[in-house]
Amino acid sequence: MRLDRYLSHATELSRKQARDLIKSGAISVDGVIRVDCAHAVNSEQRICCAGIEIAAPGPRYFMLYKPAGYICATKEGAHPTVLQLLDEPRREHLQIAGRLDVDTTGLVLITDDGQWNHRLTSPRSRCPKTYHLSLAEPLSMDALQQLERGVWLRHEHQRCLPAEVSRDDSQHIRLTLVEGRYHQVKRMLAAVGNRVVTLHRQRIGAIQLDPMLQPGDYRPLSADEIDGIAAL
Ligand code: URA
Repeated sequence: MRLDRYLSHATELSRKQARDLIKSGAISVDGVIRVDCAHAVNSEQRICCAGIEIAAPGPRYFMLYKPAGYICATKEGAHPTVLQLLDEPRREHLQIAGRLDVDTTGLVLITDDGQWNHRLTSPRSRCPKTYHLSLAEPLSMDALQQLERGVWLRHEHQRCLPAEVSRDDSQHIRLTLVEGRYHQVKRMLAAVGNRVVTLHRQRIGAIQLDPMLQPGDYRPLSADEIDGIAAL
């Protein structure tokens, strides 16, 4: 990693402030002052500012309870982004792992570990995600079986993979998918002649939305939660 990137990841300095500090001669790498911002460093090296060691930037992982009205994007538009709910330094380094629609609530995972994010969101991982839905119409047995077999979505060339469906009652169901196509849940229900009224994501892989969180709250992931995704 470049020295200026290391510093801005490991501290609250912006990239510009990190560069200025490096150029001022305040930063040493393994005891040697380095004034080249592009100097390559790794986490095994001892990087100091005015003699004080700067700990290597560790990756961060969070779960957030997304409220309705927020978008899963890095820049706000007509709506605020879920990243604005995080009171964390260096928010601009964080990525949202998989998107929910503005009106969808529930579990969102956020990290600055690009590989972990990729593992979670890669179609090849087939990471299961469970959604709780309320529907405009009762779900017929025929529609339920179509979802379980895999429905065809408009403008798509491949049938959806089979979904797991369970009914709490005729208009409240739980759906587990191993894909993440655009507006997939809403389009699947439309394909069987129904309409999603509310949509909530409850689980990603082995990670359940923490029942202690209220909409808008977040917490760091535990080591087991992080490892569960890394093992996908
Ligand atoms: N499927 C949808 O249609 N919307 C979401 O937000 C997530 C999955």
